[in-house]
Amino acid sequence: MIQKIQQAFRGRFNKEPLVIGAPGRVNLIGEHTDYNYGFVLPGAVDKRIYVAIAPNETNTVNVFASQFNESYSFSLDITGPQKGWMNYLLGVSYHIQQQGKKIGGVDLVIDGDIPVGAGMSSSAALCSAYGFALNELFKLGLSRMDLAFIGQKTEHTFVGVKCGIMDQFASLHGKKGHVMKLDCRSLEYEYIPFDFPEYKIVLVNSMVSHSLAGSEYNVRRQQCEEGVAILQKHYPEIKSLRDVEPAQLLQHQDELPPVVFDRCSFIVYEKERLLRGCDALKQNDLTTFGKLMYATHEGLSKKYAVSCTELDFLAECAQHISGVAGARMMGGGFGGCTINIVQTDAVDTFTQKIQAAFNGLFKITPDVYVTQIEGGTNILA
Ligand code: GLA
Repeated sequence: MIQKIQQAFRGRFNKEPLVIGAPGRVNLIGEHTDYNYGFVLPGAVDKRIYVAIAPNETNTVNVFASQFNESYSFSLDITGPQKGWMNYLLGVSYHIQQQGKKIGGVDLVIDGDIPVGAGMSSSAALCSAYGFALNELFKLGLSRMDLAFIGQKTEHTFVGVKCGIMDQFASLHGKKGHVMKLDCRSLEYEYIPFDFPEYKIVLVNSMVSHSLAGSEYNVRRQQCEEGVAILQKHYPEIKSLRDVEPAQLLQHQDELPPVVFDRCSFIVYEKERLLRGCDALKQNDLTTFGKLMYATHEGLSKKYAVSCTELDFLAECAQHISGVAGARMMGGGFGGCTINIVQTDAVDTFTQKIQAAFNGLFKITPDVYVTQIEGGTNILA
């Protein structure tokens, strides 16, 4: 991929590029908890967005996206969103300049092997790769965490998804063989080894693109905030659902609209599952971890209502295949992938069985990705 993108860049712009790679992510447990200022447990994966880039001494950014065979140019005097995937580049360029940093025009080619719309955060990876590249080229002195926030602001203001910080954080901070327990309030994080040679993290794509999920995602966020506002009347110290104990929520259940109660209860118990899950991982106990994953799926589907028929089918089906320690839908929801922890020597039969079962019902064969946990965004050439 590195050579391919270098050649594409030289052919188009006739000079040598810097090449940056930014990974997609998985999340083992702790879903929709990031914007509730709780904990998440993501890891960067071996699928990346690649950016080949060089300054062009103008005020214009010229982009060629190999995957879509599309080119686009924009001036750095951007004021707001345009349309489609270029909003990620527009937003990052804009927010970097808003921080008082000076950048110049660049030529770039983008390529990658993160499936788009599969819930593996290809958009966060694009923001990370491009922001990281500008930071290098123009010596901006931004930290990886600064770049993560620039990516998040881009989603909020140029794309309209009020996402948390998990995806951008994971793409920028990944470490080979480790997942990251991130406290989304203090931003402290801990690398926890995911060192189970006898198991693989296997993603199964529901083949439902999650691209329309943004509006529902924002509604979930609002519902959580509505719950916090009600609980705050009794407990002024509560700043987000992360601070809520199950007993506090239950005590005020009848003051919350039923839907808001369901959303809040998922988040409150998801925090407990995450904390127990981290302990289980540290004790090499994948059996307990797997059970927590199934419980997370149940909550995401029934209480948080972000699953869909295809994801429910995949999670349920995985439970009945031997060699599977745990399975659940992953990421924002409404499509994308399930994440499955599968014994290495059972991966082939798992793949065959789940593909056949899914195909029998939905008449389409789901893509399966056997992933490795890799390092974060970096210079590759
Ligand atoms: C999307 C968002 C993240 C996070 C997850 C759900 O991936 O971008 O911030 O909220 O959904 O855990």
